[in-house]
Amino acid sequence: MLELKDVSFEVTDKKGQKEILNNINLTIDDHKLIVITGPNGSGKSTLAKIIAGIYQPSSGQILLDGKDITDMSITERAKAGISFAFQQPVRFKGITVKDLIKLASGNQVTFSEACNYLSEVGLCAKDYINRQVDNSLSGGELKRIEIATILARGTKVSVFDEPEAGIDLWSFKNLIKVFEKMHKDIKGSIIIISHQERILNIADELIVISGGAVESVGTPEEILPQLLSDEKVECSCCKGDL
Ligand SMILES: Nc1ncnc2c1ncn2[C@@H]1O[C@H](COP(=O)(O)OP(=O)(O)O)[C@@H](O)[C@H]1O
Ligand SMILES: [Mg+2]
Repeated sequence: MLELKDVSFEVTDKKGQKEILNNINLTIDDHKLIVITGPNGSGKSTLAKIIAGIYQPSSGQILLDGKDITDMSITERAKAGISFAFQQPVRFKGITVKDLIKLASGNQVTFSEACNYLSEVGLCAKDYINRQVDNSLSGGELKRIEIATILARGTKVSVFDEPEAGIDLWSFKNLIKVFEKMHKDIKGSIIIISHQERILNIADELIVISGGAVESVGTPEEILPQLLSDEKVECSCCKGDL
């Protein structure tokens, strides 16, 4: 179980201090598929990075199975069982797809297992297994390879930041299947950040983030009707005269 208690995150930029996340309280039970959604700039990626340990919260606590992991680094959190797929995946020149999958799984994966992980994300293993994870891969290919590495890890908490980004329609259908299968197979929890209605629909629980705070939590049946009818666009800088 992953718990966030009163987690806030502030940054200081040229304009001074800015609060990006404000008192986030969340409990994510094992074996749950959670989808976090909300407008652009509402703090979703920041929240994912706080969970993965890429950012440290300014205040608050993060607990994994009751253990305080707030001060743990990204490497320590990865060892504790948290994995993270970036909105913009990282390229590793000099490392092959096979190496990356082996590395992710702790070297216990066989060649044929590595091929299975690639097939699950819709990539033909013989075309990709020996490719370098560099600029020669398209954004969509890289994203799918990153998802394959997370499947290989099978951790307690797997966080995916907008996995649909850059993925074509055919692969998108398969991506949904990948998450459904992962949800069935692994004991841990899956957290997906997404705007896609079809991904929102497969969630056990939806969390809506707005302006750096949790706006609502509930099942898709409870949250989606409101979310889909809510089309108002508010922009404070457009109020009043120019
Ligand atoms: N390191 C940072 N420094 C300054 N502002 C940041 C930083 N990281 C994120 N932000 C700002 O925080 C807000 C939330 O960003 P983000 O979490 O990426 O939103 P989302 O993923 O919901 O689109 C945005 O306004 C973004 O510009
Ligand atoms: Mg984001």
